[in-house]
Amino acid sequence: MKQKYKFFFKRFLYYFYGEKFFKRFNYDWSKYPSRIQIIQSIIDKKNFKHYLEIGCDRDVNFSNIKAEKKVGVDPIRGGTLRMTSDDFFKQNNDKFDLIFLDGLHTYEQTIKDIDHSLKFLNNDGVIIIHDCLPKKIWNQIVPRIYGHWNGDVWKAIVHSRTYTNADTYTCVADHGLGVIFKRKNRNQLDLKVNFKNLKFSEYYYNHEKFMNLIAYKNLDSIF
Ligand SMILES: C[S@@+](CC[C@H](N)C(=O)[O-])C[C@H]1O[C@@H](n2cnc3c(N)ncnc32)[C@H](O)[C@@H]1O
Repeated sequence: MKQKYKFFFKRFLYYFYGEKFFKRFNYDWSKYPSRIQIIQSIIDKKNFKHYLEIGCDRDVNFSNIKAEKKVGVDPIRGGTLRMTSDDFFKQNNDKFDLIFLDGLHTYEQTIKDIDHSLKFLNNDGVIIIHDCLPKKIWNQIVPRIYGHWNGDVWKAIVHSRTYTNADTYTCVADHGLGVIFKRKNRNQLDLKVNFKNLKFSEYYYNHEKFMNLIAYKNLDSIF
């Protein structure tokens, strides 16, 4: 309850000092397959063996994924290793086929997790990132001031869309699943900005172009 009042107070302050843009997307996530279904179907189709999840929490996803070798990293609970993603990548020597990023939902941490993952991803592997499609401004404000929080992970997707040697998409399912391949970018975004400073209104008006959206039914076409 105390937390709810704190959020209300912070939202009140935000009305004065923050970006004022209140258009929203109407994604109904209950109509799409879940991250668990999508991740498992990729593992099965590609015969992937090594799975890494960053940010496991109550293992809702981690415990349902079937793969020969699974590593789960979380400093608080769940998974198999109790540490932050930065500490994990510092000491890791293994390569993975599918890496699911769902740790700290800030632009700064997510782009770091993406860069580290590209280093430890097998050449035909894939990175999946949760929470890339916030529906409204409140969902993505950092620090969190609203119940449902996607954070500003979407800015890390826009940033990786500008890479030459990574090919980035956003699958429209389960709050937006970023999909990154280690290959030449097939649709490189030409944008030179401070990605942290991007506005929600820019995300709204350039949605398709920034996020490189792909319907889950067409996912096979990019593998
Ligand atoms: C949204 S939850 C993960 C949910 C889970 N992947 C699922 O699909 O059900 C985010 C988790 O990230 C963890 N986390 C926060 N900062 C982290 C970091 N720097 N490195 C790794 N995990 C982190 C939190 O402890 C929390 O358990």
